[in-house]
Amino acid sequence: MTEVILHEPLDMHLHLRDGDMLRTVAPLSARSFSGALIMPNLVPPITDGEMLRAYRHRILEAAGENCFKPYMTLFFKPEYDFDFLAPLAEEITAIKLYPAGITTNSEGGVSGFDVETLRPALEAMSELGIPLCIHGETGGFVLDREREFVPIYEELAVAFPELSIVMEHITDAVSLEALERHPNLYATITLHHLLITLDDVVGGMLQPHLFCKPIAKRPEDRQALLHAALNAHPKVMFGSDSAPHPRHAKEAPGCAAGVFTAPVALPVLAELFARHGKLEKLQHFVSTNAREIYQIDPPVKKVRLVDTPMQVPEKYGEVVPLFAGREIGWSIADVEC
Ligand code: DOR
Ligand code: ZN
Repeated sequence: MTEVILHEPLDMHLHLRDGDMLRTVAPLSARSFSGALIMPNLVPPITDGEMLRAYRHRILEAAGENCFKPYMTLFFKPEYDFDFLAPLAEEITAIKLYPAGITTNSEGGVSGFDVETLRPALEAMSELGIPLCIHGETGGFVLDREREFVPIYEELAVAFPELSIVMEHITDAVSLEALERHPNLYATITLHHLLITLDDVVGGMLQPHLFCKPIAKRPEDRQALLHAALNAHPKVMFGSDSAPHPRHAKEAPGCAAGVFTAPVALPVLAELFARHGKLEKLQHFVSTNAREIYQIDPPVKKVRLVDTPMQVPEKYGEVVPLFAGREIGWSIADVEC
């Protein structure tokens, strides 16, 4: 039997939603992760301290007895300034910026990336040490959207050298190269973008449960992402972007974007790293790098994963997970906290 013990695993990009969906999905992440960066794209989005505190409270309630820390984010608005953010700085781990309309519930995001318009908010964040997470896609041709956004990341990285900027869920080899040019650029990588390419989504029969934003790219992009993750590139963190939608919203004309990976994330990562002979790097990818980058000290938790297969349920509530109904090669043996 092969096993790996992970200390304080972290998911630095997670959608938990609200209401019944929150109650269904939160325990799945809370069991296996020590903490997660919680995305603010609810309807309406989380844009002030009161909303943020109430949401954090609902998450903790839904997480139950699991020792789990939700690292909270605000939904970026250009109107944020120093006076607004300063009293919130202790309660927020990052602010998430969405280009308007680019993905699920992002309608209230930013239109046009004019550095001067964004300056007051980004200078305040720099001063307060609040990282900026960005969904980096333009409104261009779908396969080019992330690549076209890289110059915007670079312009922001140069204009705000003290601001930590996280390129969220990167899918493109070009984004990885940008990391090397700017000390204040970091990135998250999802599980699904390490596993699939566009072929898996649309190359045969359309697979709605693999449809997400940004869309999976070419084999050489996946290869570059895998290389960075498996070698625990120090500027790269695991962020699942686990994004649950009810089955009727996925298996529909007008399929919602998002892959629900939370229940299988750690076992599948362990299987993937083991297959490549890189199990010893997994701790860095799922915890150490994020702790360094975000300067966080998550609750103590020890997760033991073993190469004993598990059967993935067809559904959790209304949501279909990655590998639904299939057997995966690894499973969680026990969790201590
Ligand atoms: O596929 C996605 N789903 N990408 C995102 O950026 C948002 C997410 C969601 O909230 O459903
Ligand atoms: Zn997301």
